Amino acid sequence: MARISQFAVLCAAIAQGVDAAVTFAVPSKTGTGGLSYAPLDSAPVGISFEFFAFPSYFTNVTATNQCLSNWKDLTGVWPPIRIGGTTQDRASFDASTSAYVVYSVASPADAPMTLTFGPKFMTLAGTYPGRVVVGLNRGKNNIANTIAAAKVAVSEVKNLLAIELGNEPEYYPKDGQPIASGTWNPSVDATSQVNWNIQVGKALGKTNIIQTGNWNQPPPEWGAAQLIAKENATSKPYVRHYAHHNYPGGDIQKLQTHSQTASNVRSMFAADVAAVKQQTGKEYVLGETNSVAGGGAAGVSPTFGAALWTMDYVLRAATTNISRTYFHHGTVGNCQYCFWGRYSMGAPYYGATAAVALMAGARTIAALDTGANNYAGYATFDGEGKPMRVLLYNSDYYTGSGSRGSQGFTLTGLGGLNGGSVKAKRLTAKSSLARVDRGDDISFGGQYWTNGTCVVGGKEMFETVNVENGQATFDVKAAEALLVYL
Ligand SMILES: *[C@@H]1O[C@H](CO)[C@@H](O)[C@H](O)[C@H]1NC(C)=O
Ligand SMILES: *[C@@H]1O[C@H](CO)[C@@H](O)[C@H](O)[C@H]1NC(C)=O
Ligand SMILES: *[C@@H]1O[C@H](CO)[C@@H](O)[C@H](O)[C@H]1NC(C)=O
Ligand SMILES: *[C@@H]1O[C@H](CO)[C@@H](O)[C@H](O)[C@H]1NC(C)=O
Repeated sequence: MARISQFAVLCAAIAQGVDAAVTFAVPSKTGTGGLSYAPLDSAPVGISFEFFAFPSYFTNVTATNQCLSNWKDLTGVWPPIRIGGTTQDRASFDASTSAYVVYSVASPADAPMTLTFGPKFMTLAGTYPGRVVVGLNRGKNNIANTIAAAKVAVSEVKNLLAIELGNEPEYYPKDGQPIASGTWNPSVDATSQVNWNIQVGKALGKTNIIQTGNWNQPPPEWGAAQLIAKENATSKPYVRHYAHHNYPGGDIQKLQTHSQTASNVRSMFAADVAAVKQQTGKEYVLGETNSVAGGGAAGVSPTFGAALWTMDYVLRAATTNISRTYFHHGTVGNCQYCFWGRYSMGAPYYGATAAVALMAGARTIAALDTGANNYAGYATFDGEGKPMRVLLYNSDYYTGSGSRGSQGFTLTGLGGLNGGSVKAKRLTAKSSLARVDRGDDISFGGQYWTNGTCVVGGKEMFETVNVENGQATFDVKAAEALLVYL
């Protein structure tokens, strides 16, 4: 009877054109409620810096330290960084140079075709208080030079997490890299990775040191499972993590659409992550990623829609057992997807920060939705297994013209908070197209980050919603997210 009457109410609501609320049951304890849970790293949201540009970000871009420390203030842990990218395979170590990097470019917007770097590069990386992954050259096929650089990385970078040997090696033939001058395919590359992992690991006298893989083309062809099949008892101990890259691309609407993001993460990575977990028990990371390849798309990557994608994507990755996700930052001053630059903030920082705020201090995460439509929910749980926060996301596209839709989300299972209330922070802007670098306001809990410095501005604002009969309903407009504190 009760079920029939609820159904009748629902039908009446639909007939009147009122959107039925999306309902998510919040489990009272991690591991329960029929959801799929993933353990969380202490800082799952990381930043990747293009190899040649890394010294510039850390010596010449004021916002870098502040943007990173804002997240440390939220979580207690500095975000991990990865230094690498295409130019890691164009770089040679020069023990005699006192410069961080030496190169010349025709225009400051260009990345160098060749460069050298000195020991000071690693000393600078060693000043970063968080974990650091350093990407070194395999393309040039000069293992002695790479070992010399790796030794300096080990001695100078006190928080060294791992070393990569080569970036996106599937592109080596196209890039004219000497190591790929003969036959080059996933199998040849995997054999090369296994040999290099052994030789570099042995030279360093360190196991658990290599972040291996690092392809951009999708698994299974270019994936961890086929690499694992080539590994043996000598090479395996040197591997610390398996990494893959990803740039989903598309227009703003496609990018921000939740079902697209959920399907991208699931179809690209779920099987490869499971293979790594089952066969090695090691971590899987997105070692380099962002919205659109090649520095980003000018009309897509700097928008609020891309910020919402950033948030949803890193959370979907985390729920898929991807331990850390490093968002790439390229040439300073020529980087559409960057979270910050020398003069202006980027919209994606706002989305990434909402994700950091959801996961801060949490031990596990679960997706509350199945990824089938535009409406997402994520819940995080503390060390005792209790729910901490829920993030609700309405990924309906909104261009700024016409009326803006809104979706109700009902959270049930809040019995412990009966008669009380919960507070929430809203991530919002005037539309999916809003851009900080064009003067539009984007805010998270009423706050923004100042151009050029990344210092927080504005008064922190929470909304309050009452909990009755163990449930509460929240309205989230098209292209908005709400972080609920339980
Ligand atoms: C994540 O890995 C853990 C084991 O570490 C496993 O229990 C869990 O089912 C995995 N979750 C997903 C979503 O695959
Ligand atoms: C720092 O930025 C200025 C302004 O763009 C530039 O002229 C200078 O070369 C940069 N220095 C380094 C070390 O990148
Ligand atoms: C693993 O492969 C490497 C490279 O081919 C080889 O040198 C080594 O002996 C192999 N180890 C074992 C245990 O088979
Ligand atoms: C931030 O910088 C952009 C690009 O220069 C500018 O359009 C915008 O007005 C600035 N925002 C603030 C709050 O100063």
